[in-house]
Order: sequence, then C-alpha cells, then structure tokens
Amino acid sequence: MIITGNGKVFGLIGDPIGHSLSTFMHNAVFKELNLDYAYLPFNVKKENLSNAINGAKSLNIKGLNVTIPHKINVMKFMDEIDFVAAMIGAVNTIKFENGKTIAYNTDGIGAIKSLEKITSLKNKKIIILGAGGASRAVSFQLAISGINELLILNRNTEKSKYLINDLKNKLNNSDNFSDFNKDTKFNYGDFNILKENIKDCDILINATPVGLYPNANVSPIDENILHSDLIVYDLIYNPIETKLIKDAKKVDGKTLSGVKMLVYQGAESLKIWDVIDDPINIIDIMEKAVISKL
Ligand SMILES: NC(=O)c1ccc[n+]([C@@H]2O[C@H](COP(=O)([O-])OP(=O)(O)OC[C@H]3O[C@@H](n4cnc5c(N)ncnc54)[C@H](OP(=O)(O)O)[C@@H]3O)[C@@H](O)[C@H]2O)c1
Repeated sequence: MIITGNGKVFGLIGDPIGHSLSTFMHNAVFKELNLDYAYLPFNVKKENLSNAINGAKSLNIKGLNVTIPHKINVMKFMDEIDFVAAMIGAVNTIKFENGKTIAYNTDGIGAIKSLEKITSLKNKKIIILGAGGASRAVSFQLAISGINELLILNRNTEKSKYLINDLKNKLNNSDNFSDFNKDTKFNYGDFNILKENIKDCDILINATPVGLYPNANVSPIDENILHSDLIVYDLIYNPIETKLIKDAKKVDGKTLSGVKMLVYQGAESLKIWDVIDDPINIIDIMEKAVISKL
C-alpha cells in the first residue's frame, strides 16, 4: 500500500494490543478499495490516555478504535458521546471531525446486525450468559431491537441484577428508541435457572470467556439442554468454532461465531469514519482477513 500526502490514518488504542486482529481486517479493506489509508496499532498506557487523544487530534488522525482498558476512561476526554454508547457506558470508536471528538459503541450494533442476517429479533426470547462489558453492549442494543424477553444469567447474580435494572431504568425513561417494545420482559438470575428457561428460548448468546482458547474443550452449558430451534451465538472468536457451537450443530441448531461480531463491529466503525456507505459490501473481505490470522 502506498500512502500519499493525502492519505488518512486510523488506528487502535489499548494496552495490550499485540493480539488484535483489527489491523488485519481494516487494512484489508483499504487495500481492496484501493485507498491510501492506514490502520495502525497504538499501545497506550492508562496515564497517557489524555495525551494520546490530544496527540491524535493534532496529528489529524481520522478515527480510533478503543479497546481494553480504555473503553470507559476515554469517555471523559470526548466532546460528544453517541446516546446509545452513553447508555451502555463504554465506547470503542472515536471519530475526529472538525476539531471535535465524537465517541460511539459499535460492539452491540455489530452483534445485532450479524444476528439479523439470519433471523428477525422481533418478539424473540433471548438469553445472555455473562454480565460483563460485551454482555452490556449487546443487551442494550438487543433491548431496543423489538425483542419480547431478555434474560441475563451470570455467575455473580448481583451483576446480572444490576445490568437488568440499569436496562429497565434507562429504556423506560427514554423516548429515543422507536423499536423499543415497552412490554419487553427483563429478568436476571444465575446459571441454575438456564435449564427451565432454554426450552422456549429463541437465541442464546455466550458473553462469558468459557470455551476461549486455550480452554477450548469446555462449554458454559450442558449440551443436553440445547435444541434445534435455538440459535446459538458464541461471542468468542478464538477458536472460531467453540465447544458450545459444535454442541449446537450436533442438534442441528443455527450458530454464529464471535468472528461475526468482531467483523461487523469493525465495519460499523468504517461507516462512522465515512470510509464506506454500507458495511455489507466489505464484510466478506474483513472476515477473510480475520480468519486467515486465527
Ligand atoms: N467477538 C467480539 O468482537 C467480542 C468483543 C468483546 C468480547 N468478546 C468476548 O466476550 C467474552 C466476554 O468479554 P467481556 O469483555 O464481556 O469480559 P468481562 O467484562 O470480563 O465479563 C466476563 C463475564 O463472563 C463471566 N465469567 C467469566 N469467567 C466465567 C466462568 N468461568 N464461568 C462463568 N462465567 C464466567 C463473568 O462473570 P462474573 O461477573 O461472575 O465474574 C462476566 O459476567 C470474551 O470471551 C470475549 O472474548 C468478543
């Protein structure tokens, strides 16, 4: 790739960032579209975060993705925060525009758009395992997508209770979301109530790291309770096919790998940065780049 004087620079800030696949997928798109843009990894320590944002602004960097541990702390250095990202309470995409910083969260919308490629979310019952950062981003976005029921199960029930109450309070007091179904049932619990709840569940999302490489031979749930009417979305992308996904395939259930969320959230960032109009056109390029590195 040749970068001219008119080239644009994008990047990722986090610590550590050596494991990131974002550089591969974004640069693959720039190459395919013949753009003289570059996407670079920037390892930024917590104490340098404010300087890094100011530096990026001064250097005319066009956009940054944000990963652990900066997704929450970086918000205080932003001029504006998108209202879904503000509700989630974490951001992963910054746009630098006319001297201003505007932050977004594309994790949730990435997961939802990839799910909507295989099913409608309207009136669905959804169970999410885990109540950490990924669960939070996905559950807020799901809750405003017309679903009928959301049940969040977590090892530590206090966290699933907190997340459900936060969702209920914020969404019931907002008129911003036309697709939010005011009759949505919100419930929480621990894994002990999974068996009775999975029977009539449409979509199960694993937002825990159970099954993540190198512990790839474990699943967060007993394979005997899976059924063919259940769509299983494992947010883990390494391995591409987790034990949970393999178990779901054995009973002929539809499945989605975390690779989809990774790629769709990246594509949404490219849309925010005005690199592309429609993420759909570049999903395959990004997915191929990610899979080749896994
Ligand atoms: N595909 C993507 O683009 C993408 C993006 C983000 C995250 N992810 C994946 O999503 C998963 C969660 O990430 P995160 O950022 O949300 O992590 P996080 O904030 O640390 O949350 C982890 C959640 O998993 C639960 N958990 C951890 N170990 C567990 C165990 N052994 N048994 C049962 N529950 C356990 C935790 O429960 P407690 O509260 O009880 O500790 C917590 O609710 C990771 O596997 C990550 O790779 C994927």
